[in-house]
Amino acid sequence: MKIAIVGTGYVGLVTGACFAEMGNQVVCVDIDEKKLQGLRNGIVPIHEPGLEELVIANTASGRLTFTADFSSAINDSEVAFIAVGTPPNEDGSADLTQVLDVAKSIGQVITHPIVVADKSTVPVGTADQVRETIDAALLNRGEAIEFDVVSNPEFLREGSAVQDFMYPDRIVVGTASPKSERVMEELYGAFSKKQDRIQFVGVRDAEMTKYAANAMLATKISFMNEVAMMCDELGVDVENVRRGIGSDARIGPSFIYPGCGYGGSCFPKDVRSMINMASQAGLQDTIFEAVERRNQRQQLVLVDKVVAQFGSDLSGKTFALWGLAFKPETDDIRGAPAITIARHLCERGARVVACDPQAINVSRQALQGLNVQYTEDPYQATEKADALIVVTEWRQFKQPDFRRLSSQLQSKTIFDGRNLYNPQRCVDYGLNYIGIGRSSVLYS
Ligand SMILES: NC(=O)c1ccc[n+]([C@@H]2O[C@H](COP(=O)([O-])OP(=O)(O)OC[C@H]3O[C@@H](n4cnc5c(N)ncnc54)[C@H](O)[C@@H]3O)[C@@H](O)[C@H]2O)c1
Repeated sequence: MKIAIVGTGYVGLVTGACFAEMGNQVVCVDIDEKKLQGLRNGIVPIHEPGLEELVIANTASGRLTFTADFSSAINDSEVAFIAVGTPPNEDGSADLTQVLDVAKSIGQVITHPIVVADKSTVPVGTADQVRETIDAALLNRGEAIEFDVVSNPEFLREGSAVQDFMYPDRIVVGTASPKSERVMEELYGAFSKKQDRIQFVGVRDAEMTKYAANAMLATKISFMNEVAMMCDELGVDVENVRRGIGSDARIGPSFIYPGCGYGGSCFPKDVRSMINMASQAGLQDTIFEAVERRNQRQQLVLVDKVVAQFGSDLSGKTFALWGLAFKPETDDIRGAPAITIARHLCERGARVVACDPQAINVSRQALQGLNVQYTEDPYQATEKADALIVVTEWRQFKQPDFRRLSSQLQSKTIFDGRNLYNPQRCVDYGLNYIGIGRSSVLYS
């Protein structure tokens, strides 16, 4: 099938590369010429396991191309996916400018019937707006061309995006048109062979499903973080509580790891958009507001613990920070707790030496002007640092050389923002251990 993907970011590029891998003819469209030029030369601008190989192989085979020529890309395709950004407005609602700009452009250029599939995360009712925008542009041209708008939210996770796209738990397609249902069924059939994973639902149902999924996951995280805060006060080890509740099949072990809060480009903005949608629907004091509040506080919990240990003036202190990306296996720092933590430490006079396998370059821009140095060597970061703060659970941080850390860290203290380490093991090596929800096991 011939497909155009408009917006070649995390979602658009992965979608395009995976559809091309299945034999489709895919053209990825973007307004960022530099990015397009790089992609044509096999330079993938984001870190995502397996993506570079797919992009290079499918570009070489001619099934995957990159262009800024919107009109020819759309008019050469049966399906046009919208995969542009939907950042938050001041009031938390989703800014639909990019989505509606693309819709307008589609209406201005289409010359043949097409299925427009919205992959961007958008509030309930956006497909109607997209349809109206295309209709208005067509009317302006005095044309009447058939088109359908379907909602096809994306559930991939950064860090395992290719794997998630290739082997999805489910593919949700919101459509009221049997014809576009057939087109989407054909397109996604290859990803749903072993088991029927395609769920055809109403357009508004699909739009809400994406937000409900992210809000549910964010709720689990904030719930557990709040339990951890209680554990800190009540002398309970949250890790034992986590294992105790996670073994209950009704609760399950995923997304109940206490830590420094969720980040990334999706959960924070999607929860805020959910709050906005709930308020539009007349709901007050929603669970989503509590989830968001807990997360904002949670991002600073480690800073509070550092202050409790070293005092509020951190001048002259150096902290090694392991992990900048919002999660492992990505270079994305949007909404990352580590960036918030680094800023707050620097504001209190501290120097930060940050280590991350992928996210150093992007962090340099985000933390510009602050007293932050960078290294890819974790033990160069900890050399002569006062303490170590672990924020992202990259594999290489999971089993550190505690003996070396004990000799390097001036205060011999580890702030374990992901509860990665066994406190007793830290103590055995002469280290102080400070985790989240584990003050009862604060060993020294
Ligand atoms: N990142 C994720 O893990 C993820 C997962 C599921 C859903 N989503 C949703 O998917 C959407 C895209 O997210 P992303 O992370 O891929 O964004 P992104 O910022 O990485 O990429 C968006 C791309 O769209 C391009 N763009 C903007 N306006 C354009 C236009 N008029 N024409 C062509 N290209 C244009 C930008 O240049 C950019 O390359 C968002 O709604 C997001 O919420 C993201």
